[in-house]
Amino acid sequence: MSKPAVFVSREIPQSGLDLLRRHCDVSVWPHDRPATRDELIANCKGKDALVCLLTDKVDAEVLAAAPSLKIVANVAVGFDNLDVAAGTAARVVMSNTPGVLDDTTADLAFALLMATARRLVEGDRLVRSGGWRGWGIMQLLGRDVHHAKLGIVGFGRIGRGLARRARGFDMSVSYHDAIRAPADVERELGVTFVPFDQLLRESDFVSLHVPLMPETHHLIDAAALRTMKKSAVLINTSRGPVIDEAALVEALRTGVIAGAGLDVYEHEPKIADGLAALPNAVLLPHIGSASIATRNKMAEIAAENVIAFFQGKMPPTALNPDVFKASRA
Ligand code: GLV
Repeated sequence: MSKPAVFVSREIPQSGLDLLRRHCDVSVWPHDRPATRDELIANCKGKDALVCLLTDKVDAEVLAAAPSLKIVANVAVGFDNLDVAAGTAARVVMSNTPGVLDDTTADLAFALLMATARRLVEGDRLVRSGGWRGWGIMQLLGRDVHHAKLGIVGFGRIGRGLARRARGFDMSVSYHDAIRAPADVERELGVTFVPFDQLLRESDFVSLHVPLMPETHHLIDAAALRTMKKSAVLINTSRGPVIDEAALVEALRTGVIAGAGLDVYEHEPKIADGLAALPNAVLLPHIGSASIATRNKMAEIAAENVIAFFQGKMPPTALNPDVFKASRA
């Protein structure tokens, strides 16, 4: 029996590719840039499976152009790039990589929070520029993290991971989520559920951990930014469009809030006009889950979903498991 044909839309960690190659005929996009839409479609034609990244939009058009596809495995936990309803309609299983990147992303959110609060990047630039004239009592004064108020928006696995880290810094932590966490989780993590507006009004640091959905698009807009303290710092390691980026640039420029640490952007890889020039913004290139171990695990989970499917087993992290069940019925 011939092996299933899989297209991998970009180089992924070797451990994932090795797994796939043991069971499938694998072709990998050879360039160090994402495939264009037309290139993605052309490479999916005749393939049984697609292993894709968050930079690939997989929707009804792609699925219709490549009707041989049976499973699309996203190497990311966020899946706003997949049209799962279109997958279900086309009877294509779709999967993501939940569970393995929570701690790594929570680490990065906390690193970004500290870097922004204590102006690490400005300090690094000063030293490298040769312009540092020695210790100064008024130099690069930042904001304390310890004992500050942290507001976490979106209290899933990553938001909870951030709350755990914040405890070590004696922060007082509140959160908001569409669904309130169970009382024992609140107790264990020492967190308080508050309405969204109250969280914005009271927090010294606001960190975003919501998925991108119509309900969370521009959740942080000009009005939300005005609700925050002038001394507050906004951290985003979720998805860029959760913030109205042009409104954020204006707020940072005019002192509506004090700073922002961003790992994600509204129109990646572009960033909003004026953002790069702001010293009170720390800007990272979407590296929330980018540790060697975590990226290996993400690639392996995507591979395991594909392999399970072709072995007739439920893909372990399917987003539309009913499609698989129906195919077996
Ligand atoms: C990264 O942003 C992911 O969703 O895995």
